[in-house]
Amino acid sequence: MKLYMAPMEGITNHVYRQAYLHHFGQIDRYYMPFLSSTGLNYKEIRDIAPENNQGMDVIPQILTNQTDVFLGLAGMLKDFGYSEVNLNLGCPSGTVTAKGRGSGFLRFLPELDRFLEEIFATSPLPISVKTRIGYADEAEWPAILELLMKYPFTEMIIHPRLRMDLYRGEVRPGTYEFAVERTVKAEKASDYLCYNGDINTVEDYEILRSRFPGAEKVMLGRGLIANPGLPGELRGDGSMKREQLGAFLDEIYTEYRKIVPDEKNTLFRLLEIWTYLSRSFPEGEKVLKRIRKSKSLREYESVVCEALRTFGD
Ligand SMILES: Cc1cc2nc3c(=O)[nH]c(=O)nc-3n(C[C@H](O)[C@H](O)[C@H](O)COP(=O)(O)O)c2cc1C
Repeated sequence: MKLYMAPMEGITNHVYRQAYLHHFGQIDRYYMPFLSSTGLNYKEIRDIAPENNQGMDVIPQILTNQTDVFLGLAGMLKDFGYSEVNLNLGCPSGTVTAKGRGSGFLRFLPELDRFLEEIFATSPLPISVKTRIGYADEAEWPAILELLMKYPFTEMIIHPRLRMDLYRGEVRPGTYEFAVERTVKAEKASDYLCYNGDINTVEDYEILRSRFPGAEKVMLGRGLIANPGLPGELRGDGSMKREQLGAFLDEIYTEYRKIVPDEKNTLFRLLEIWTYLSRSFPEGEKVLKRIRKSKSLREYESVVCEALRTFGD
């Protein structure tokens, strides 16, 4: 089994990834939130800086529909020491898709074909892809998959939802099944596909494995942020301990205090994590509400302290 941490803008940055590595460390690969311009800002440079990514297998991600942006970023990432990049064809955000990027690119297959041909011709790094299965209709998937399979992606991470699904409703497992069958037929390596979407519990994973016994690689997003102990549970190592979670949160807090100048912004970033993490607490909704209302870090600390007391052992 290979477990990946999903890229999540605003959450799985280097602070989160490093704290995760130090206190949980059950992840084989970490995917970074996307970069979309060669004019990297300070935050992005800090996120990709090798010294902030020690001890882990990290893959940066690019979101663009422009060849020169992709190649420019891939070149910079190579200079930073990275050995692979991931192409984002999944982002459903309206501002992204309106520009024909992310899952918006899936509506323009001739343009996507040309873009892929150009980037694969000269990319300084091998490329993997993270994709949705269409924009508005499942019927789009066979043509999208056929197009993607023309190119030598190192792996294909599939989130079986349409752009129009956003993150809501059930995933569409039939489309993943289609990809499994198609890639077997094309004699792709058995670890070519990676499944992503709604794996929140051991039971979810077991259902996935019973339907797809070959699903060796799984990317975890919201389920992992809600329960950082999920990878350990999937590996049969038991669930997370209160002390472990406390130390993990402490490290995130301390690191944010070092790099985020003001309390309001620090609180905002911590809140992004708690939006999901609160689900692991017996009175999660209440905890989240109190964190949302916290006006100072002192207040935040006392809410978290109290919440941790209610958390298992
Ligand atoms: C807040 C948030 C930020 C995300 N940022 C990214 C991103 O930068 N790149 C990307 O490929 N996917 C991004 N995603 C999508 C996740 O990587 C993942 O595909 C999605 O959450 C479905 O997996 P899950 O059900 O395990 O959460 C984001 C999702 C959320 C909720």
